[in-house]
Amino acid sequence: MDTATDLAPQPLNHATALPARFYTDPRMVARDRAAIFDRSWQLLAHVCQLQAAGDHVIADFAGLPVIAVRGADEDKGPGTIRVFHNVCRHRAGPIASCDGLAAKSLRCRYHGWTYGLDGVLKSAPEMGAAPDFDVADVHLPQLAVRVWQGLVFACVDEANAPPFEAFVEGIDARLGATRGLERYAHHHRVGYDVACNWKVYVDNYLEGYHVPHIHPGLNKLLDYRSYVTETATWHSHQFSPLESGDTLYGDGDALYYWMWPNTMLNILPGRLQTNRVVPLGVDRCRVEFDFYYTPDESGEARARREADLAFSDEVQLEDLTICEDVQRGLASGSYQPGRLNPLRENAVHHFHELLRSIYRQTIP
Ligand code: FES
Repeated sequence: MDTATDLAPQPLNHATALPARFYTDPRMVARDRAAIFDRSWQLLAHVCQLQAAGDHVIADFAGLPVIAVRGADEDKGPGTIRVFHNVCRHRAGPIASCDGLAAKSLRCRYHGWTYGLDGVLKSAPEMGAAPDFDVADVHLPQLAVRVWQGLVFACVDEANAPPFEAFVEGIDARLGATRGLERYAHHHRVGYDVACNWKVYVDNYLEGYHVPHIHPGLNKLLDYRSYVTETATWHSHQFSPLESGDTLYGDGDALYYWMWPNTMLNILPGRLQTNRVVPLGVDRCRVEFDFYYTPDESGEARARREADLAFSDEVQLEDLTICEDVQRGLASGSYQPGRLNPLRENAVHHFHELLRSIYRQTIP
């Protein structure tokens, strides 16, 4: 089939998956960065990691290193959170190599050029002899920032991105007042390198169809027959009643949000887990898991957290194994796009329709 046919809109009931080349062609790395990631809102941090002036968090936005920094410029209360390219304007060294607290300034470790928390260069060692060089003219490029539910999102090219309000439309009402995400505290991060295209990992996240087959432990906790998947313009939402006993999550709801293109929010009783899927190449990605809990240092709460971490790791290893197998299948030359299950794969279809719409406009 030609590209125009492959990328034509498909009704859910007759839809097929996206063809393999969109997951295997090395040219997709630059295309996805320019057409998708630079024009989207990507999760970067939680406000609990940026409480004081100089607190900073680094991230990889599909190949663009970025840094979120709490400023110190306001007279009262916490300063503004800004997000900059984490690339020095001298010769491209990193401004920061890791997250940090209460930095007075941001100093590039290559030659020591030092920026203020507002991203403006303050000093550059031994540059006095350089004619017409003024540190005040040198700025780190800045991204657009939104803080929503305590989560910090940033966008490289806001003018060509969906409005942030459209991106999160309807989620606040669904979460309600009792499940506000700003009340959580960051516990730790785990990263997994996965040998698959980032879209394979997202596809897998977006359907519960595989749960009875790939995740025997998770399947016992969720009520597969009551598993519901709903789609909105820029996100989709999976919901299942949960029965896990008091030593893990207790009983309640499991809410799984995917937000275009690479953010996931996994909300279980007493805990928030966020996932960021970071492309590292056409057949590699890294999935960053950040764990957040409601503050509680009781023995029971600690034991539940340990059980959550162990269980989450088990589920993740099951997912990454099948994702790597799928990438090999996509690259095999054998695969032709198969029919999607309209009942169980509506969110995969939704994701693929968003991709098709963007690829129609950007791939010759
Ligand atoms: Fe940053 Fe030289 S690259 S100071």
